[in-house]
Amino acid sequence: MKKDELPQAGGEGQDEEKPSGTTAKKTRIPLLFIGAAIVFVVVVLALGLGLGLGLKHKKGAAGGTQSSNGTLPSSANGTSGTSPDISFARPSWRRNPLDYELDLSWDINAAPTTRVFNLTVSEIQAAPDGVLRPLLVINGQFPGPLIRVNQGDRVLVNVTNQLVNGTSMHWHGFYQNGTNWMDGTTSITQCAIPPGESFLYNFTVEQFGTYWYHSHFSTQYTDGLVGPFIVHSPEEAKIQEMYDFDQVVLLQDYYHDLSTALLPGYLASGNENAEPLPDNGLIQGTNFFNCSSYDSDSGYTCYQNSTRAIFNVAQGKRYRFRLINTGAFGEFQVSIDNHTIQVIEADSTLVQPVTVSRLPIHIAQRYSIVFHANQTATNYWFRAHMNDLCFSAENPVLDTDVRALITYTNTTSDPTESVDWASALDGSCEDLALSDLVPYDPLPAPQVDITYPIEVSFQIGNFALDKAYINSTTWVPDTIPTLNQAVAGLHANDANFTTSGVSSAYDASQLIIDVPTYKVIDILINSLDEGAHPFHLHGHQFWIMASGAHGDFNWNSYPTLNMTNPMRRDTLTVDAFGWALIRFKADNPGLWAFHCHISWHMEAGLLMQWQTRDDIMKGWTIPSDVLALCNAK
Ligand code: C2O
Repeated sequence: MKKDELPQAGGEGQDEEKPSGTTAKKTRIPLLFIGAAIVFVVVVLALGLGLGLGLKHKKGAAGGTQSSNGTLPSSANGTSGTSPDISFARPSWRRNPLDYELDLSWDINAAPTTRVFNLTVSEIQAAPDGVLRPLLVINGQFPGPLIRVNQGDRVLVNVTNQLVNGTSMHWHGFYQNGTNWMDGTTSITQCAIPPGESFLYNFTVEQFGTYWYHSHFSTQYTDGLVGPFIVHSPEEAKIQEMYDFDQVVLLQDYYHDLSTALLPGYLASGNENAEPLPDNGLIQGTNFFNCSSYDSDSGYTCYQNSTRAIFNVAQGKRYRFRLINTGAFGEFQVSIDNHTIQVIEADSTLVQPVTVSRLPIHIAQRYSIVFHANQTATNYWFRAHMNDLCFSAENPVLDTDVRALITYTNTTSDPTESVDWASALDGSCEDLALSDLVPYDPLPAPQVDITYPIEVSFQIGNFALDKAYINSTTWVPDTIPTLNQAVAGLHANDANFTTSGVSSAYDASQLIIDVPTYKVIDILINSLDEGAHPFHLHGHQFWIMASGAHGDFNWNSYPTLNMTNPMRRDTLTVDAFGWALIRFKADNPGLWAFHCHISWHMEAGLLMQWQTRDDIMKGWTIPSDVLALCNAK
């Protein structure tokens, strides 16, 4: 891997053919309506005629049955006029891939404004990869709509719950400084939004970069409640010179069953470290699945018409892909055949460009990559290889070679000259080497005040239940949000809520470390587990001071840690039996979850919380609409 220089200004200009500004979306609406109506008829016919069973997959067919469940070649190169009809074959529940293209005419310098979004969540039957299943969708579509704002904007998101269960929405990576109750974390910062009710999230965006949002109620996001959240800033101007197109790319592992159906088995007595294994992986919410993988008595209805995502590129142009791993369990190794990729952002931190052939991206992490469409004008594979070397077992129906098509020629035929990179897949699910990630805007790490070592493990306890532990606590969601408990306790001057260190004020199922006043905290994470864990801290970016794949942190190295510009992000992978030393400024008042982002592991108890700035929280009144969520029956 080699570090690259940032390109100089100039080069190839931005393409003027793109629709401009925020009107781009509006102009597409009529098309969507017509498309939806026609698709409805097509789907009704298809279901009625029983096309679902026994159809042969037509390899690389353009149009025909293959595209009836498929994706729309994008208009990234401004040639959408040449492929207008394919959208008519898109089922109404499938997100239009055009929705994830970010037109570069967006005004990154616009004055702060208020932007309003409505997200209605419901359950439908859908077949993103051809296999019909109950799927949770937002505004009737999967994956969720793009939320796109500028730094400094106020965001109002009205979430309406049409599910039979509670829900919530978490804005992954956002600081929520002063609005901890808008963090969307059920049982920590709010009660779930009850079925049939709405809740208005209202917060100001203090940061910029690539983020996402997802339900934070049990494993619910795994069933479809995910979407991209992109924040622009005037500061972005300096990197916009590096690319001609900007594109959101969602990657996720995918199950053919609801997580609520899989979770009981995973948590059942006698089941040790056997996470449910993904059946497929999706890119932009779609992928091919071979229906013959299932026996006719499998119980699944499989439509042999699924297709891969398609990215249109134009010769000579440079593309920014904002990769977001919205999955539950699987790490991906991303590569583009015949093209190197330059990493320019990790989570929401811009980094000095580094060129790689493969990029590991674990659950909840984001990376922006830039690649140059400078190869022979034909078709190539974009690969998101799901790293099942890190799974405890193999799922025979899973094809780990998850792919999308990159086409220079606006065609859908399988590539013939596409060559995968020879470099071996990493077998240990590690992040990019720390030395490869250098923040573009330096920010020195402050001196540490307090270090808290924590130990991560799975332990088999009573009734042969295998639970995840941080130190000696396995998390169980509390009925009253811990934030509500903290604010009430602080108002009552209860000293239990202001004592520095592991708090005794809460139920035994809550490991909460109280940092009553501003301090700089080191968390020394030590994993005794055989699996890698992507750890996420809510409300902060942390500096990664050091990490290791085995052994222990050497305390003697404290004086020599890189303090000048260590990598900072919000989600890092702690290696199997590995360790990491991360540092954060406990300057943001609230109750902040720190957890493994693998859906199954969080539900197994791999979560702790930080209670910070009691001095500020003491003066808080939690808004009545937030509190009211807990009163609903
Ligand atoms: Cu992506 Cu606790 O969150």
